[in-house]
Amino acid sequence: MTTFARPAPPPTSTDSASHPTDGTATADTTASARGAHDALTADLALKAAHRAMWATGDYPRLARDLVAPLGPALVAALGVSAGEGVHDVACAGARNAALAAARVGAEVTASDLTPELVDAGRARAEAEGLTLPWRTADVEHLPCDDGQFDVVTSCIGVMFAPHHALAAAELVRICRPGGRIGILAWTPGGFIGRMFAVMRPFAPPPPPGASPPPLWGDEAYVRELLGSGVTDVVSRVATLRVTRFETPQQFREYFAATYGPTIAVRAYAGRQGRGDELDAALDALAADALAADGRTGGGDEAGMDWEYRILTARRAGG
Ligand SMILES: C[S@@+](CC[C@H](N)C(=O)[O-])C[C@H]1O[C@@H](n2cnc3c(N)ncnc32)[C@H](O)[C@@H]1O
Repeated sequence: MTTFARPAPPPTSTDSASHPTDGTATADTTASARGAHDALTADLALKAAHRAMWATGDYPRLARDLVAPLGPALVAALGVSAGEGVHDVACAGARNAALAAARVGAEVTASDLTPELVDAGRARAEAEGLTLPWRTADVEHLPCDDGQFDVVTSCIGVMFAPHHALAAAELVRICRPGGRIGILAWTPGGFIGRMFAVMRPFAPPPPPGASPPPLWGDEAYVRELLGSGVTDVVSRVATLRVTRFETPQQFREYFAATYGPTIAVRAYAGRQGRGDELDAALDALAADALAADGRTGGGDEAGMDWEYRILTARRAGG
């Protein structure tokens, strides 16, 4: 049985400042405590903003309508089996890898930054008769022991944590030596990766140290992130067939109603007087994807193929 054993050890404002080892706080220790405090405050504010962003719209609906096949694909790629301890991080929504792993009998823990989406996942699991712990947690500071899980998964999830190296180190840390890590991420050149590139010029400047999510779909980049913490890296790209949108406008309106990142950037662009320009750019992206499919007449077959990467690896030291 896997449990959330250890509370996250966030740095605190009292570290070193209130407890100097020799009773005399030097200028250096005071400055470094202030720096740590400022960094923590900035990170908490950033995560609060991310939480609010993911809670807007209706991600559970999008998960059900569009991306439901991805979680099972990741679980299948990892060969998860009954009795294994699995942690699905940044798991959100209601159709995900956590549920797919629980269905094969794994002992699953599910965690996500956004409490509203954790609740949606819990409700979906209960509706299926699946019992697993759901936790609110930041993947950059997971409240878990080293090596606690046989398998660590993230399906279009960890890619949205802003500090990639921190998040990658956590995936490796909580996996036992010899265990498996599986990451499914949109590729930079695929449809969703391109959507983020289209939205970037309309978004506020990223906070210091934050990196673009679709980098997690680049094999060389992820190999470097995971570094010597893993062996046996296997990676392949695949596509998700999406036939829900017959026109670019349908795509744009659906994302404007359901998808937190798109809602946030549209709101910002609107405040800058650039809302129409962004909408035109999103429509052009979708028109291009529909045209590439060669079936743009609005018939049953109209669709898009959204590229993603599945990367699996073994935790070194097993
Ligand atoms: C696209 S949704 C994920 C979907 C889910 N894994 C699925 O397969 O449908 C991205 C998720 O990442 C979560 N997330 C973003 N930043 C995070 C962080 N720092 N730590 C944990 N979860 C995070 C969001 O709350 C959101 O639920």
